[in-house]
Amino acid sequence: MSFWSRHKIFETNSIILIIGVLIVISIGGLVEIVPLFYLKSTIEKVEGVRPYTPLELAGRNIYVREGCYNCHSQMIRPLRDEVERYGHYSLAAESMYDRPFQWGSKRTGPDLARVGNKYSDDWHRDHLKDPRAVVPGSIMPGYPWLETTELDTSTIAQDLQVQATLGVPYNEEMVKHAESDIRIQAAADDPNALDLAKRYPNAQSRSFDGNPQKVTEADALIAYLQMLGTQVDFKLYDNKANVR
Ligand code: HEC
Repeated sequence: MSFWSRHKIFETNSIILIIGVLIVISIGGLVEIVPLFYLKSTIEKVEGVRPYTPLELAGRNIYVREGCYNCHSQMIRPLRDEVERYGHYSLAAESMYDRPFQWGSKRTGPDLARVGNKYSDDWHRDHLKDPRAVVPGSIMPGYPWLETTELDTSTIAQDLQVQATLGVPYNEEMVKHAESDIRIQAAADDPNALDLAKRYPNAQSRSFDGNPQKVTEADALIAYLQMLGTQVDFKLYDNKANVR
């Protein structure tokens, strides 16, 4: 049997053909994808992108816990309609510390990648409690327990550590201060706010839910929402470049 006539096995048996196709495609895929994990240039570093503060990270955990990603994406595509509605298209670097990423796959509600600073904290608090109080006809469910539930901060240091093992540049000092950083960021005018800003440049600190007495889940979630899409200063870039 010559070399080429062995190909008959594939041409006469569909299962073997499918297995052969899968093997060939996997090799092609690996050759294309694997180098991306090792090339430094895969994710271009962009000025301003920093790891989440412990409060923002706690808010992100609540975002995941409540399943907000089922209705909201966090990924603005480089298409003109999206850019005009939501702002600058998302950069890979903007989700480089997102583990797991929150790009989402369904938009029952709007994209949230640049929702930071779009509304006031009060708006978010009222909207999360009862969306129809501020957006008549909204089909978003209410989350009234967030502003009455005190934030559990007991695991946040471990959380930072886990993120660090996954490659997020949290250092020992950040892990050590994780719990106190939550309190500093959720208070207005804390004397240690400067330390927080040194660890996490441009972190906004104040009572996000309007109740300075305790740190609630609403504080964390609103701190996270108000930060989304605000890390990169797009005035430095040409807004219309690369938009198809
Ligand atoms: C069942 C789908 C659904 C879920 C789940 C959901 N939302 Fe929404 N969301 C919507 C819809 C629809 C809107 C648009 C109407 C409105 O503003 O209420 C919206 C609007 C928003 C807005 C305003 C966006 C803008 O640019 O105007 C924010 C912020 C938001 N949602 C946050 C959240 C958060 C945080 C969660 C999880 C705690 C969540 N949503 C869960 C459907 C959903």
